[in-house]
Amino acid sequence: MKATVITYGCQMNEYDTHLVESQLVSLGADLVQGVDEADFVLVNTCAVRGKPVDKVRSLLGTLRKIKAQRPLVVGMMGCLAQLEEGQQMARKFEVDVLLGPGSLLDIGQALESNERFWGLQFKDELHEHIPPAPTGKLQAHLTIMRGCDHHCTYCIVPTTRGPQVSRSPDDILRELDLQLAAGVQEVTLLGQNVNAYGVDQGARLAGYPSFADLLRLVGRSGVRRIKFTTSHPMNFTEDVAAAMAETPAVCEFVHLPVQSGSNHVLRRMAREYTREKYLQHIAEIRRHLPHAVLATDIIVGFPGETEEDFQDTLSLYDEVGYDSAYMFIYSPRPGTPSYKHFADLPRELKTERLQRLIARQKEWSARKNAEKVGSVQEVLLRGDAHDAGFLEGHTRGNHPTVVPKAIGASQAGVYPVRIEHATPHMMYGRILDASGEPLPEQPRLNPEAAAVTSPLQMA
Ligand code: SAH
Ligand code: SF4
Ligand code: F3S
Repeated sequence: MKATVITYGCQMNEYDTHLVESQLVSLGADLVQGVDEADFVLVNTCAVRGKPVDKVRSLLGTLRKIKAQRPLVVGMMGCLAQLEEGQQMARKFEVDVLLGPGSLLDIGQALESNERFWGLQFKDELHEHIPPAPTGKLQAHLTIMRGCDHHCTYCIVPTTRGPQVSRSPDDILRELDLQLAAGVQEVTLLGQNVNAYGVDQGARLAGYPSFADLLRLVGRSGVRRIKFTTSHPMNFTEDVAAAMAETPAVCEFVHLPVQSGSNHVLRRMAREYTREKYLQHIAEIRRHLPHAVLATDIIVGFPGETEEDFQDTLSLYDEVGYDSAYMFIYSPRPGTPSYKHFADLPRELKTERLQRLIARQKEWSARKNAEKVGSVQEVLLRGDAHDAGFLEGHTRGNHPTVVPKAIGASQAGVYPVRIEHATPHMMYGRILDASGEPLPEQPRLNPEAAAVTSPLQMA
């Protein structure tokens, strides 16, 4: 069988894609790149906003057309598969295999079945089974928990991914060992709310460390860089900041979604913290990590958001001074409390606020990136940039960075880089040698193209 998995959504979905791919390989399948070559196409879906749902709908439409012309098995997995909305779509587009986020290990059974197979249970053994196939890359994701015990009124994730189930530290470390053996240099610990690690449905699991202690534990594994996502401010403790500061492998990067700067909106979102409490966490982080790089998620145009509420979000942005932010227009999701109880604001109003927020974010990112010009950053270069004369990657603070390939440094790796130029979205620099001097740039096959595309020359 020739199989391909197409992935939408977040890093948890990317991790799940690797997990299912490793299952498919162990079942004897060949993984292929495109739909044309495949006789099994599996779509890993996202339901967090309307847009990813629309994309899946249109892809399933295309796949049904192909299926009318040649033998093809179509599967759907991930968050949307768990929802009635996704199941209706699956019926309409003649999907053969449907696996919710808790039933991924049923893939073998599903492919053996001669009829339509739908798996929708949440099964805990997902945590112990064959780990995702090593990808041969320097970066890896590592799921430490599934599901979510919060009930933010806008969010469909607790419905799609079920209640929180933490993975045992032994399972986590075992998978990490396999990743290290495969050459991984940076691991990102994943969960909807990693700060609540080990505290499932209100109870601390026997023998499970706190998230702060898990960071310390993972820090002793020998992995070079550790990141984690996402943190809910409600479960953030100062000990997490302390563990970050005392564990050299943990990158000084904190992604702490605030969603809104207005207490009125935070209450309607059921976020369980106030603006003041959130800023207190930021102060704790800065106390332990004065150079912490901060990132956030913000939803604009939540039902009932007034201009004054929105101004509170802008002022919070200024008060924190984030390096980067994911910004979303509120998208009403059927099945969520806010969909049921609150009226959506007009589209134009939401779009206009998003644009103002993006402008503010750009100013801050420009300023934050400019501050780094002249500094030396440890950059994980994961491979060729769009222009093959360059490598692309990111710093410990997650800033996207591009460098020209150098003699002796023309491949993926972790290198010291002096930043020479910055835009709001990208930093450009040169790889340094052991004495801190830039390594000579690798001669380019097409020097004319280099003159046009080298951002360093443009600067
Ligand atoms: N568990 C994480 C993230 C979950 S989804 C957390 O709580 O922080 C990722 C982001 O999508 C959220 O942080 C939120 O900003 C955004 N999001 C979730 N539901 C949304 C909706 N209905 N409309 C717009 N954005 C949404
Ligand atoms: Fe959604 Fe809130 Fe859970 Fe995050 S913490 S997944 S926003 S319900
Ligand atoms: Fe999407 Fe599910 Fe992730 S809804 S954002 S794929 S948790």
